[in-house]
Amino acid sequence: MKDTLLVNIGRIVGILPEGVRKLCGKEMDTVQTLDNAWLLVRSGKIDSFGPMDSLGERPSDVEVMDLSGKMLLPAFCDAHTHIVYAGDRQQEFVDKINGLSYEEIAARGGGILNSADLLHNTSEDSLYEQAAQRLEEMISKGTLTMEIKSGYGLRTEDELKMLRVIRRLKENYPVDIKSTFLGAHAVGREYRGRQDEYVDLVCKEMIPAVASENLADFVDVFCDEGFFTVEQTDRILKAGMQYGLRPKIHANELAVSGGVQVGVNYNAVSVDHLERTTDVEMEVLRNSDTMPLMLPGASFFLGMPYGRAKDYVAAGLPVALASDCNPGSSPSCDMRFVMALGCIKMRLTPQQSFNACTINAACAMGAEDVAGSITVGKKAGFIVTNKVMELGFIPYFHHTPFIDKVLI
Ligand code: NIG
Ligand code: FE
Repeated sequence: MKDTLLVNIGRIVGILPEGVRKLCGKEMDTVQTLDNAWLLVRSGKIDSFGPMDSLGERPSDVEVMDLSGKMLLPAFCDAHTHIVYAGDRQQEFVDKINGLSYEEIAARGGGILNSADLLHNTSEDSLYEQAAQRLEEMISKGTLTMEIKSGYGLRTEDELKMLRVIRRLKENYPVDIKSTFLGAHAVGREYRGRQDEYVDLVCKEMIPAVASENLADFVDVFCDEGFFTVEQTDRILKAGMQYGLRPKIHANELAVSGGVQVGVNYNAVSVDHLERTTDVEMEVLRNSDTMPLMLPGASFFLGMPYGRAKDYVAAGLPVALASDCNPGSSPSCDMRFVMALGCIKMRLTPQQSFNACTINAACAMGAEDVAGSITVGKKAGFIVTNKVMELGFIPYFHHTPFIDKVLI
């Protein structure tokens, strides 16, 4: 964004002081606003803002944009996506409608392995084009900071192909992308029945190869029933950390897996899913710097329980929400829908759900210094809504278009 002075902003929403990394418990109840305001963007960052009557002489070296009373929000942050994939899994969607479960589809060799086969037969360029289209949809829906995972390769070359596509997206779009290596998303087909050998491949071949091209920020493991055990997860996280990759974890989607504990033990940036948790996991998370991240789109699409977001907040913990956008368990990248599910299904207030989709989501991918709130020094990336409205209107009228434009 060029140096710009935004004037006549009807309401700025989501203001936080500098230095706030995340919001916990009761802190999530509040979203700070400022009515009738201006905001100055310089060098792509929020330089300053204030009430219109405090705006003295307008700087002459900036463009002026009149928002004519519209509302300005920080862009959404999406800390868990799998948008680099080939084709679709529409047939499995129909299989699910006809009664098969996610686990049954996976056990038949479908699911993630189906996506891995499709990806193997897709060129890097075509994969890039498909992913770029999804990224553009995310941007149009107001998400400007996102994490994207590998994990549909399951062979060294194919995992690298995915991560190189993510790198090209980073180079070509003016958004902030964090990249996660998820080689341990499922056991590759060739390794069926030889799970430990696959874990060796992940640790000894894939991770060093990923690191040598500097392709990832995080290492992730699907630590769950039928996928990877706590011991295997432990090995993979350790191997990743040796190469400077901070852990993120898929845990407790299908069963209480022990994934939260192993993630916290290695100071994971987030532990994700948490559809099934006991109070024990909450206690483990309480004294950690690991963000509990829940994915209500997966609960919605697969008919699973929703994470206990409200209990977490009541217990004084932070909660973040993300889309989990992927072809198998959550084929939507719409963070406004995620915010609505946070309210409707998890009974978060609009303020709590908004904070879970912005500042806490930024923290769940180590981007809280640049995104997630209207704060001096953060990157300029905003949603302009079509009129001033209560925050609750966004999840309440959850299908009525509300974005006038996205400012990058
Ligand atoms: O986060 N749970 C594991 N991975 C994805 C689903 C991947 C897929 O089915 O393609 C998730 O839900
Ligand atoms: Fe996921």
